[in-house]
Formats: sequence, structure tokens, C-alpha cells
Amino acid sequence: MSDAPSSLSVTPIPTRDAAIEIPWDSAMAKSRGIFGFDSMDARSRSFNMIRARLLELQAKRGWRMIGVVSATPSVGKSFISANVSAALSRDPRFETYVVDLDLRRGSLSGFFGIVPERGVTDYLEGQGNGEAPSAYRLEGERLLIMPTTAGRIHSAEMLASERAQTLLRSMRVSSEKNLFIFDLPPVFANDDAATVMARLDAYIVVAEEGKTKQREINDAVSLLGEGRLAGVILNKYRGGVVSEGYGVDDYYAAGYGQVDSSSK
Ligand SMILES: Nc1ncnc2c1ncn2[C@@H]1O[C@H](COP(=O)(O)OP(=O)(O)O)[C@@H](O)[C@H]1O
Ligand SMILES: [Mg+2]
Repeated sequence: MSDAPSSLSVTPIPTRDAAIEIPWDSAMAKSRGIFGFDSMDARSRSFNMIRARLLELQAKRGWRMIGVVSATPSVGKSFISANVSAALSRDPRFETYVVDLDLRRGSLSGFFGIVPERGVTDYLEGQGNGEAPSAYRLEGERLLIMPTTAGRIHSAEMLASERAQTLLRSMRVSSEKNLFIFDLPPVFANDDAATVMARLDAYIVVAEEGKTKQREINDAVSLLGEGRLAGVILNKYRGGVVSEGYGVDDYYAAGYGQVDSSSK
């Protein structure tokens, strides 16, 4: 992947000061299944582990644009994207953004209770000239959210468009302190995830215990490239890491261990 020439257009990525604040408190977080903000909650443990892993990869390899993918829908990509970015946002050395690029099924807004005035799709459709999509922040938290609303749109064309390239390029050239987590559609649904992944550093595959097959994980990894696999997350894991049905385990499937030999 080559760096874009500086003459290409760049749009400013909204900072925390420019972000729109929305009401939020700990009870709302828990009722929506968001545990990553609260390090005291046992249910945040798995997300803290994933955070440690991503920060290690950031330090070692400079990875700061990470996609969250899966083989099939509804395995928990948005749940994981929201919680992992919540956990990352607690590290004050970085500014963490979570970006909804699952344009047809956009659901981050629902997790955070945001009704976006200007979501990612509006930006990609060309509304508001060069301005980047609005960022939102939750009262009392540092996380920056770029949501979208689900819609019947030509997502493939939108994600391949010049505006999408401009947005991703602008994130790339933005402050080195910025970390971006992208909630993406399933890799085998259409070309959307692969189109976006061409511009990102790395990805996480979310698998669902008892549902996702090893072969599906392998196929996703062959498609996106083993060299930039940040990890495979086993969601809805019943092994008891976390209680109350929110079990998550970050495991690194056999054969993918070369990313870091200390992985379990
Ligand atoms: N570990 C979990 N425990 C309980 N519910 C979960 C878990 N992971 C996801 N869910 C729920 O399952 C549904 C699908 O998850 P979602 O993140 O939207 O999947 P995807 O983004 O992969 O389509 C959502 O209602 C979500 O809240
Ligand atoms: Mg989703």
C-alpha cells in the first residue's frame, strides 16, 4: 500500500472539541451492553485484554486503523467494535474513534443511542461539501463515534468512491495519536469489507462460538491476508470468562500465532 501524494484532497477529522455530546451514564452503558468503559466491571475484562493486544501492535507495528470483520452476519462485530473502542478510549495517550462502515446495517448508533444528524453515509453521498462526518462523544467519556444510519444504498460504490478514499486518507494523515476502529460488514456478504480493508492496517475477525466454522475463519484470513491479522475473537463464549451471557474470549487460532508467539 503506497502513501497517497500530498496533493490529494484531505478533509479535517473532527476533534473532541468539535464532537457533539450526547447524554450518557454508567447505567445507560450497561443497559446497552457496553462494558468497555468500566474497568471495574468484570465484563470488561476480555475487552481490556484485546485493548492490550491492539496497543502492543500499535507500538510494534504502528497499526492504528483496524477493521472488525466476520464471515457471517450477527456474530457480534458491532458489539465488539463498541466495547473494544470503549476500552481503548480509556488510554489518554490516544484519541480513539469508532467508525461505522457497515453502511447497510449500521448499528453503532443504536448501541450508543445516537440519532445522527450527519452520519458517514451523508458524507459519502456528498452532502455538506468537503466536511468530514460529524463525530459524537458520550457525556463523561473520551470515545469519539462516527455513526451511520442503516439504509438501502449502493454501499459498494460509496465505499469505493473518491469521498471514501479521501476520508480514509485523511484519517491516515491525521495525528499519530488517533486510533480508528472500523465496524465493517461480513467479508462474504459483498465487496464492502475488502474494499475498505485495502486502506486499513489490520483487522480482527469475530467468530461466534458454535456458529462460525474454522473454515470460514480461514477463508476470511486468506481473503484479507494473514500478515495483518490482529486476532480472532471468539464471541458468546460459554467458557466462563465473563458472566451473564456476555462471554468473550480473544483467542488466536492455531496457525495464526506468528503475529505474536506469546498469544494464547
Ligand atoms: N457476547 C454477547 N452476549 C450477548 N449478546 C451479544 C453478544 N455479542 C453480541 N450480542 C448481541 O447480538 C446481536 C448481534 O450483535 P451485533 O454486534 O449487532 O452483530 P454484527 O455486528 O456482527 O451483525 C446484538 O443484539 C448484540 O447486542
Ligand atoms: Mg454490525
